[in-house]
Amino acid sequence: MDIKKCVVLGAGTMGGGIAQLLAQNGIETVLTDVRGDIVQGALNKIKKGLAARVEKGKMTEEESAGILSRISGTTGLEAAAGCDFVIEAVLEDVSLKKEIFSKLDSITRQDVILATNTTACSLSEIASAVKNPDRVIGMHFFNPPVVMKLVEIMPALQTSPQTVERTRAFAESLGKEPVVTLKEGVAGIASRVLAALLNEAVWVLEEGIGSAADIDKAMKMGANQPMGPLELIDLIGIDIHLAKTETLYSKLGDARYRPCYLLKKMVAAGYLGRKSGKGFYDYSQIPPVPTKL
Ligand SMILES: NC(=O)c1ccc[n+]([C@@H]2O[C@H](COP(=O)([O-])OP(=O)(O)OC[C@H]3O[C@@H](n4cnc5c(N)ncnc54)[C@H](O)[C@@H]3O)[C@@H](O)[C@H]2O)c1
Repeated sequence: MDIKKCVVLGAGTMGGGIAQLLAQNGIETVLTDVRGDIVQGALNKIKKGLAARVEKGKMTEEESAGILSRISGTTGLEAAAGCDFVIEAVLEDVSLKKEIFSKLDSITRQDVILATNTTACSLSEIASAVKNPDRVIGMHFFNPPVVMKLVEIMPALQTSPQTVERTRAFAESLGKEPVVTLKEGVAGIASRVLAALLNEAVWVLEEGIGSAADIDKAMKMGANQPMGPLELIDLIGIDIHLAKTETLYSKLGDARYRPCYLLKKMVAAGYLGRKSGKGFYDYSQIPPVPTKL
């Protein structure tokens, strides 16, 4: 397959990482967002990350310069004209994604695959915004896209087998290990299974059965997990995890995804996790209110 130039829409956490991955694999990449300062911020972040790798001896100056020379930034969607593959990674909002896909329909060549990195928006609904929906597909990267090996390739109802195969081959050419879902689910396999597991860990904390540290220790030592579930929620972002479980709960109506009230309280209080914000470990240091049975 001859994919020489790609556009990545959305220069946030995922879009920036996907753009870097593509450029690292020799693809000319255009990164776009709604504002120039957002694009510039993403380009600066990529530059800083590469400089750190050069400093650690993991990459040469020339390799880093080559990667940076293949990424350009802009605003608007016009950059999609002349591209061979589109990856959309804008906010998780199905109306916004449909609006963008409808515009891309007239900007791009008809043989260009339009991939969305959505976690849980309906792929078939996004595809419905395009005249030729068999070229729309879910291509779900994991954070950080440069490091994580898995890419879930998720066909919509309308996606053609050719689009699936071309996307799978493209993911492999990027050094990824694709998994192709047999049909569209509410989210990909990893997101769905993981959300239930992570949610259960919060319930165990909420019920006062174990401390955050012991819940994570139990899952690391007893289930061979590389990271504890609460540590992982902190890394993903408590607000992002909450939004995901709320979506799964509303779409599946299954109690396994009912978000724990503790999550809502923590988000309302500004406990956002990630590396900088307070997370489950800060929370668990707040002494519980004594209860009498
Ligand atoms: N963060 C993750 O761990 C993760 C993992 C897999 C998939 N996803 C999915 O990837 C997508 C992006 O997630 P994210 O975490 O990078 O979000 P983010 O909030 O970090 O970035 C989204 C970007 O989209 C931009 N945007 C909004 N409207 C736009 C438009 N019209 N044109 C171009 N850009 C626009 C925003 O300005 C923002 O910079 C979502 O669909 C999300 O569900 C996220």
